[in-house]
Parts: sequence; C-alpha cells; structure tokens
Amino acid sequence: MLVFAAETSCDETSICLMKNNSIVEHITFSQEIHKMHGGVVPELASRSHLEKIQIITNDLFNNKKIDPKEIDVFTATCGPGLIGSLLVGSTFAKSLAISFNKPFIPINHLEGHILSTSFNNNIKFPNLILLLTGGHTHVYLMKSENEIELLGESLDDAIGEAFDKTAKLIGLPYPGGSEIEREAINGNENKFILPKPLIKEKNFNFSFSGIKTHINLLTKKNRIDKEFVRDLSASFQKNITEILIEKIEKGLERLKSTNVDIKSLSVVGGVSNNKYIKNKIESFFINKNIEIYYPLKEMMTDNAAMIAWACYKNYNINKQDIYFKPKSKMMVNNKLN
Ligand code: KG4
Ligand code: ZN
Repeated sequence: MLVFAAETSCDETSICLMKNNSIVEHITFSQEIHKMHGGVVPELASRSHLEKIQIITNDLFNNKKIDPKEIDVFTATCGPGLIGSLLVGSTFAKSLAISFNKPFIPINHLEGHILSTSFNNNIKFPNLILLLTGGHTHVYLMKSENEIELLGESLDDAIGEAFDKTAKLIGLPYPGGSEIEREAINGNENKFILPKPLIKEKNFNFSFSGIKTHINLLTKKNRIDKEFVRDLSASFQKNITEILIEKIEKGLERLKSTNVDIKSLSVVGGVSNNKYIKNKIESFFINKNIEIYYPLKEMMTDNAAMIAWACYKNYNINKQDIYFKPKSKMMVNNKLN
C-alpha cells in the first residue's frame, strides 16, 4: 500500500510517501519566518504552507519518479492545530484524493505522535506515553494498539511552550527548546531554584505557566547577560526534567496500585529531541525493567511520516472503514477530538 501524507498543523510543511512500513520519501520544510516574531504567527504560517506544499510535492514525485496514480490512499492531519494551516494540507491532500479517485483519511495529529514509536520499535504493553510538544503535554496509557487512555495533561502551558516562552523572556530566538538546550550545556543548573507546581499530586497532571511567571520576575531582577542566559537555561531545563521524572515516578506507583505494571515508556513529540531530558529519563529507568522508546529523529518534530504511519496502522485495522475516521479506542476518548 502506497500512502501520501501531508502535515501542516503548525509551522512545518511536511509530506511523505510511505510504502507499507518504509519511508519512500519524506520532505519537511520548517518555516523560518516566525523567528523574527518570537513565535508562530498563524496567518504567516498558512500563507507559507500555501507557497510551499505544491513545490515540495512536485519535488517528491519527480525525485522518486512516482506517478501519483500509483498512490492507494491520501491522508493529512485534520486537527488539532492552527485552523488555517490545517486547511492547507488537508484540502490539498483531499483534492489529490478526489482527482485520482482514491480514499482520503483524516488523521489526528496527536495520534500521529502517539503511534510514532511503533514505527521503529516492537512495543511492549502496557506502554506509557509521554507526549511532549509545543501544544500539548499528555500522558497516555496504551494497553494495546487499540486501547489508548489519556491519564493526565498540562492544565496550562504545554512543555514545549514553556521552553519557547522562557527562551523568549531571556532573549533567545524561536523555537526556544533547542536554544535552551544549547545554552544550558555551559550553565550552572543549580543557580536558580524554580517552582515545581503540582509536584505533590500523585497523578499525571502538570502545570508549567507559574515557572514562566517566576522567570519573568528573575529577568526583571537580573542583568540579562550571557552568564544569566546560560545559568537560567540550565536551571530551567533541570527543573522541567525533575518535574517530569517525579511525576512519572508517582504516576507509576499509582498505576501499580491498580495492577497496571508498565513494561515500556515512549517519549514522543518535539521535546523528545532534548538529550538532557532523555539522559535523565534513561538514568531513572535503569534496572527498572521498563524499555524506553523514542521515534526516529525525523518523526520527533512535526512531520508527515508519522501521519502516514498512523494512517497505515488504521487502514490495516479496518480496511472497510477507510472512508471514515479511523476507529480506535482513543478516538472515543473525547479529549483527542
Ligand atoms: O512536536 P512539535 O514539533 O510540534 C507540536 O506538535 O507542537 O514540538 C515543537 C516543540 C517546540 O516547543 C520546541 O521548542 C520543542 O518542541 N523542542 C524542544 C527541543 N527541540 C524542539 N524542546 C526542548 N529541547 C529540544 N531540543
Ligand atoms: Zn506535533
């Protein structure tokens, strides 16, 4: 089965051709235009998708000498995301489907991230999923491929958003996550003590917006020089990581008390690029008999390959339903729709 996927939910214009379980071609264009504004400007994002999507699709067909008629299914991210941006990719893929008389499958962006580690790993169930992106911080329990339950989430800012907003406060460019990681390497992570909201609660809910407020105050009290930026980046990154780990620890205990013995952990979404967070999570899980999975590098930040993969998985599950929304338990969970 040859799948064409488009992902344009935020500021990446991405398309992918996937044949069964291998990527034939994957092109992702990251929009630079938002850098000068310190965050994604929705109107500019939609316009940039419009400019780019047809160009990279032509490149994709030409590079691989593929006749679009050979494609079996067209798919695209249909939500959640910026509505103008979503409309570009989904309308584009839908139009191709109509013109080649092939089915179109709408995919939920979060489902793309959630299923991304199953592309390159044999998942051991029950699997705990940490979805860490610029728009969401969700924890899921995946009992089997079709049974996915939302256990907790951030009640305010998403973790990636906390990175981006902190970066902006200390004068680093957007997107701030990788910038903070880079600055933190040479910083003193014990310099600033930052708050850990909701840390005492034995659940998987998070709150990050108070940390940003605290950092805002620090920027008023200190001179924002190189040393401050490095130390604050390191302290922030350490604090966020400790929150993640403490919450996982408490959440695992709670799951155990309800007879759910987690066998593996998936860390997905843009923030899973962060090596410091990965190393700390890996050290925490050493000798705990829990496998840790990450997506392929090209499936971490927003991308069409994870959308093609989610489509492929659902198409296999339920061939007769290809004209409808993919059926899996997570879709029943209304938080995902
Ligand atoms: O999954 P993603 O590409 O888009 C959404 O679905 O939101 O995640 C983007 C987020 C941004 O907030 C970005 O700053 C963050 O992922 N990010 C990182 C790193 N690389 C990307 N955060 C921390 N450390 C990184 N190395
Ligand atoms: Zn995403």
